[in-house]
Order: sequence, then structure tokens, then C-alpha cells
Amino acid sequence: MLSDGGPVYDSVLEAVGATPLVRLRRIVPDGGAPVWVKTEWANPGGSVKDRAALNMVLDAERSGALTPGGTIVEGTSGNTGIGLAMVAAARGYRAVFVVPDRTTKEKIQLLKAYGAEVVPTPGLVPREDPRHVQQLAARIVAETPGAWLADQYGNRANPDVHEQTTGPEIWAQTGGRITHLVAGAGTGGTITGTGRYLQRTGGVTVVAADPESSRYGGGDGSPYFIEAVGHYLHPGTTTDTWPSVFDTSVPDRFERIGDGESLRTVRRLAREEGLLVGGSAGTAVAAALRVSATAGPDALVVAVLPDSGRIYLSKYFDDDWLTTLGFLDAPGGPLVRDRVGTYEPGLFVAPSTSTVASLITAVPPGTAVVPVVQPRRTDATTWSGPDVVGTIAVADLATLDPSAEVGAHAGPPPPAVGHGEGAAAARARIGDGPADAPVLVLVDGRAVTTTTRAALHT
Ligand SMILES: Cc1ncc(COP(=O)(O)O)c(C=O)c1O
Repeated sequence: MLSDGGPVYDSVLEAVGATPLVRLRRIVPDGGAPVWVKTEWANPGGSVKDRAALNMVLDAERSGALTPGGTIVEGTSGNTGIGLAMVAAARGYRAVFVVPDRTTKEKIQLLKAYGAEVVPTPGLVPREDPRHVQQLAARIVAETPGAWLADQYGNRANPDVHEQTTGPEIWAQTGGRITHLVAGAGTGGTITGTGRYLQRTGGVTVVAADPESSRYGGGDGSPYFIEAVGHYLHPGTTTDTWPSVFDTSVPDRFERIGDGESLRTVRRLAREEGLLVGGSAGTAVAAALRVSATAGPDALVVAVLPDSGRIYLSKYFDDDWLTTLGFLDAPGGPLVRDRVGTYEPGLFVAPSTSTVASLITAVPPGTAVVPVVQPRRTDATTWSGPDVVGTIAVADLATLDPSAEVGAHAGPPPPAVGHGEGAAAARARIGDGPADAPVLVLVDGRAVTTTTRAALHT
């Protein structure tokens, strides 16, 4: 295929936007509607967030909020920072980013490569905590002369750029044939702006692809492994605030996608379509495939794929990472699940706020040690690993004040193994400890039951 080589730009920033659509060929269900994907990793900073970053900076320059010699500050899980770092470098600003500590190493290295300064902070803290990403970013702005907070969660220039560019591009590229838009929501900027344009212009159905436990789609807010989309809620957060740029009246419905389905879709996209994309793209395509299966042959589904898989090689594409979290089976055997045997789903746990007295009456007979969890839903049958904050020995309960909270007496969190890990490898990885203390067994990243070191040996 001959090409004229494309345009010549005066700045890398002119290359933001106008990304190609690609038709999925092999993973669409038989008889399903076609699924085309918007390749947002083709932006020069590598993600959909280049659009918002550029528009927020241009808007701040126009309003005078950002002036020459100024400093761009943002709390970001990565891609907005990368986009802002690129814009800052190209336009001569200093840049400082506060990032949650679960952000991949590759994303942090990218920020630094553009010359930005990075301030890591714990990701799983209540919104009210001064170390919370948004709180810390606001403090840095207050203390730095000439600093401007990009504030992607509250800045209208974020959704507006999608209404002005991403939406019209998709409409034009599909010749107005698009019937369904599927996109994730982090700040909600992409789905709000793109969805608004496409709903207004063509009556398009807008589907939000959301991690299963995200609050946006009605989940319990417990941690999940797909970065940058959905809404996590720390159990200690008293007021749950959603980004003001997310117009929740735009999505016509939510498709809730578990981490396992997202990650298996990401791997299929790489291996069967040649598309190396990030975890949130897996969430979006998994949702798009569901839509495709029921939308009918005349529908045309477009999914927004926010970024490339290159910055997740140490996670979503790392077999060890996937196996230890219960997303993938190790080759050979016996596996952890062969040792655990059959079990009833339903992990018995003690919420850290329940009392010693109530635990004594509730604990099933024969239980030696109980995992202690952040209180969320007591009817849950699986628990996210980070929500398991400790253990308490049943034998100790009789010696404790019956009105005390069990959390105050809990020991360290138990080790966790993937159900598809080799049993011997898992046993070696978690190291020494009491033979009968609980070891959490993870399936698709969620703790579903416990085993013991001794059981892994047999
Ligand atoms: C990888 C990835 N996916 C999805 C999103 C969500 O996009 P938005 O903030 O526009 O909702 C982001 C935002 O940072 C992202 O980095």
C-alpha cells in the first residue's frame, strides 16, 4: 500500500488526535455486529489522555491561569501525566505529578523521561487523608508559586475536547453508521464528551465498560486490577465524590466486567488481532463483544482503546504476575487448586469493626484462624486481596475483651496464592510460617477460600 507519507508538523502537539479506527477480525462472536476500535494509543504521548492534556493546557494559557515559566501539577495514575509531561516539554513548562503507588513502574519512568518530577503516594487511602492523590496535588499547588493544577476530574476542557474531536472523528470515520459507543470511565471525560456528541448527532447508544467492583456501575468499590478506569472506594472514605466532569446521564447502560474477563480479552487482542493494548482496553473490548453479540447484524459497535500494552508488560503480560493472582494456570502440576480440593464458595471472614463477642458466636466449628477484612458487604463470598488486612486466631478470642473490635487484635495479613500456581512453587514463594495458619487462595484476583502451608505440601 503506497502512502504519501502523511503530514509534516511544526510541533508534536499537532499530532494529537485523528487516530485510526481498526476493524476487529477474529475475536468478534459469530453472527455478532462488527466491532471497530479507536486506536487512542496512536496519540504521540501514547494514550487518549493526550487530547485532554493538550486542551487543558491551551485553555489555561487562554484564561491566564498558566503563564510562561509556570508549573503544571496534577494527581494522575499515569496517562494524563504522560500527556501533560509531553505538552509541558513541548511548550516549556515545569511539571510535577503525584501518582498512586500501584502505578506501573513503566508509567513513572515515562514521566521522568519527559523531564517531569514524580511524587508517589499511597493509592488506597481515604479521600480525606492528606496523602490522597488529589489532596497532595492541591497542597503542592498551594505551596508552589506559578503553579497550575490541571484537575482532570473537574476541568471542563477534558470532556470538551472529546465532544469537539473524538466524537466527530468517530462519526466521520464510520460514515455515520456507528450505533453503539463503548468506553471506560476514569475521570469520565472520554465517555461524557464522545458520548454526548454521538448521542446528539446520531442517537448512538452509549455503553460504559466498568470494572465489576467499581462504584460507577454499582459495584461495592473494592479494589480491582485494571488501572485507570472505574471508581474505587476506600472503606474509610466518608463522602464518596465522583468527578464533576463525568456526566452520568450520558451512559445508557453499564457493562460490568471482572478483572479476569478484561485480562483474558487483552491477551486475546494481542495474540489473535495483533493489538497490544492496556487493561482498560480489554475491559472496553470485553464489553463491546457482549454488545456485539446482541446488537444485531445492522449495528456497528465502536470501542475506545485508551492506551498500549507496552506500559503494562510487567503486569498484564507477565505470566508470573497473572499466575500468582489466580488469573492464569502454571504449566504442569499439581496446582494449588488440586491441593485445596473442592470447597463451598464463601470465605468466612471477620470485618475489622465487628466485636470479639460477635465473632465468637459466628465462627464455624473447626476454624483455627480467620481472615480480617475491611468492612464492605457482609454478604460477599469473595474478597479482593487488599481488603484482607489481617488474621485473628480463634483460640485467642476467649482471652480478649468481648466488646473490643477484632481489627485491634489482628495479626499481619495472610499470604496469598493463585489457584493455578504450581503447589510447590506457591509454597516456596510464600516462605516459612505456621503450618496451620491460613493462606488465601485467589481466583481472578479475588480471595475465595483459604488453605494452609501444610496442605500445599501434601
Ligand atoms: C488507560 C486508561 N484508560 C481509560 C482512562 C479513562 O479515561 P477518562 O479519564 O477520559 O474517563 C484513562 C484515563 O486516564 C486511562 O489512562
